[in-house]
Amino acid sequence: MMNEVGFIDTECTGTNHYTTAPTTAGATFRATKGDGNVKQRHWENVYTTKDVSKVGWYQQEPAISLSLLQKIGSTPKDVFIDVGCGTSTLTDALIESGYQDITLLDISPSALNIVKKRLGATADLPVYCVEDVCHFSTKKLFDVWHDRAVFHFLQKEEEQQEYLQTLHRSLSPDGYALIGTFAVDGPQSCSNLPVRQYNEERMKNLVQERFDILEVIEETHITPSGSEQRYCFFILKSIHPKE
Ligand SMILES: C[S@@+](CC[C@H](N)C(=O)[O-])C[C@H]1O[C@@H](n2cnc3c(N)ncnc32)[C@H](O)[C@@H]1O
Repeated sequence: MMNEVGFIDTECTGTNHYTTAPTTAGATFRATKGDGNVKQRHWENVYTTKDVSKVGWYQQEPAISLSLLQKIGSTPKDVFIDVGCGTSTLTDALIESGYQDITLLDISPSALNIVKKRLGATADLPVYCVEDVCHFSTKKLFDVWHDRAVFHFLQKEEEQQEYLQTLHRSLSPDGYALIGTFAVDGPQSCSNLPVRQYNEERMKNLVQERFDILEVIEETHITPSGSEQRYCFFILKSIHPKE
């Protein structure tokens, strides 16, 4: 709950003597007011003021993501997460194909509410997480981690490493991460925010010994206003230190 309202590094420091009934116990929490609030305000503003079918990253069909899922041999049994899912229709396609274990994570609660509303009768199937992906922690291990146009917003190396640590912790040993960023000949900003551009060499420098880059796929996305954006998708697999 504290992470949901913008705190980061939340930890329970222990129980205390406060109690309101024989069956309750008090607990103390420590947390830092993160800059997640600023990020969250930005994205909330987007999803509460814009037509989501007109934003630059909008796709009617999540074609590239579906083709990558096919490439890695993903099946409906996979435990799947879409980080920074926004209002993408990828979830709709996965539910349609029979996926049962879907987690949707976004910093904007409004984006997730738009998805919930759109899913209608199947809205209860996904698990919804309002969180900054860099501070996400879960007991689940995901077979597929999907990120289209989220990682490239992380400007500081510290944030990029936090993200990669989270990914490494959350991916099952045989899992795949599909990460789509702007390419080196792609835009330098998105939604009025600066972005980093990636190619294999730049990604390799960041993932270092944690992940293997199995494949790099370039894609040209056509925005709703008709302009071209060059993307680079990376298929990553964790490297696990030998026992
Ligand atoms: C450019 S949009 C892409 C949305 C979606 N992946 C798609 O392809 O349509 C970026 C999304 O990432 C979310 N986002 C940005 N920074 C985030 C962060 N640090 N943690 C979680 N979500 C974030 C935004 O709210 C937004 O929905």
